[in-house]
Amino acid sequence: MSNPIKIITTEDGSHSLYHEGLKETYHSFHGAFRESIHVFMLYGLDSWLMQNPNKKPIRVFEVGFGTGLNAWLSLVWAEQNRVPMLYHTIEPFPLEEEIYSQLNYGEMDESIAHYRPYLQQLHRAAWDSGTVMSEYFNMKKEQTTLEEVQLYPMDVVFYDAFAPKKQPELWEKQLFEKIYHMMRPGAVLTTYCATGQLRRDLADIGFQVEKQPGPPGKKEMTRAWK
Ligand SMILES: C[S@@+](CC[C@H](N)C(=O)[O-])C[C@H]1O[C@@H](n2cnc3c(N)ncnc32)[C@H](O)[C@@H]1O
Repeated sequence: MSNPIKIITTEDGSHSLYHEGLKETYHSFHGAFRESIHVFMLYGLDSWLMQNPNKKPIRVFEVGFGTGLNAWLSLVWAEQNRVPMLYHTIEPFPLEEEIYSQLNYGEMDESIAHYRPYLQQLHRAAWDSGTVMSEYFNMKKEQTTLEEVQLYPMDVVFYDAFAPKKQPELWEKQLFEKIYHMMRPGAVLTTYCATGQLRRDLADIGFQVEKQPGPPGKKEMTRAWK
């Protein structure tokens, strides 16, 4: 049987994946690398650090490890900012080596090219246990779902599930309630998704919700503070 996941190239030259079963890509077609930098680094980690310059370590929770792009950029961010990070990520469907070994994220920005080997190391790290990946970056990668996972207190949440149209069960209000309870006061959740329903649900739960400009090719995204 052929692999239902295919590598594609997005508009900024970086790879993403196309899931044939869901007919859905893992990132914006307008640029996977640019999207991750914008939604998760800039509007997630940078914003949190600006509000909390002295609170360390930073605890990040990611929904959907996938290609490892967000995890890898977070490792680079932690090293460059010298901020210790505890990164908790979950993924029910890990990629095969045949796929992850071809991803070109390490070639997207020469200034961070020396972090290239870490991308594969993140994929190879053991599932369901903690791993010290580098001086400032510790990761716990679990092969599980958001519905099942036991959460830890967190400062920054990368909500990077497939779109609500494709995987509506991952956008149910009770999952955001589950996350909200484990977010520390002042913590931030960031996502590429900009639906009115999501914003209303987050506001009902108690988040302070912000519409923010989206990454290239997308008008808006959502950021929400506890
Ligand atoms: C939009 S992709 C993004 C992945 C990743 N952040 C990246 O940059 O490649 C969504 C990811 O969520 C994963 N996923 C699917 N069902 C899930 C569930 N119930 N709980 C957590 N993650 C899930 C998918 O397998 C996929 O890897």
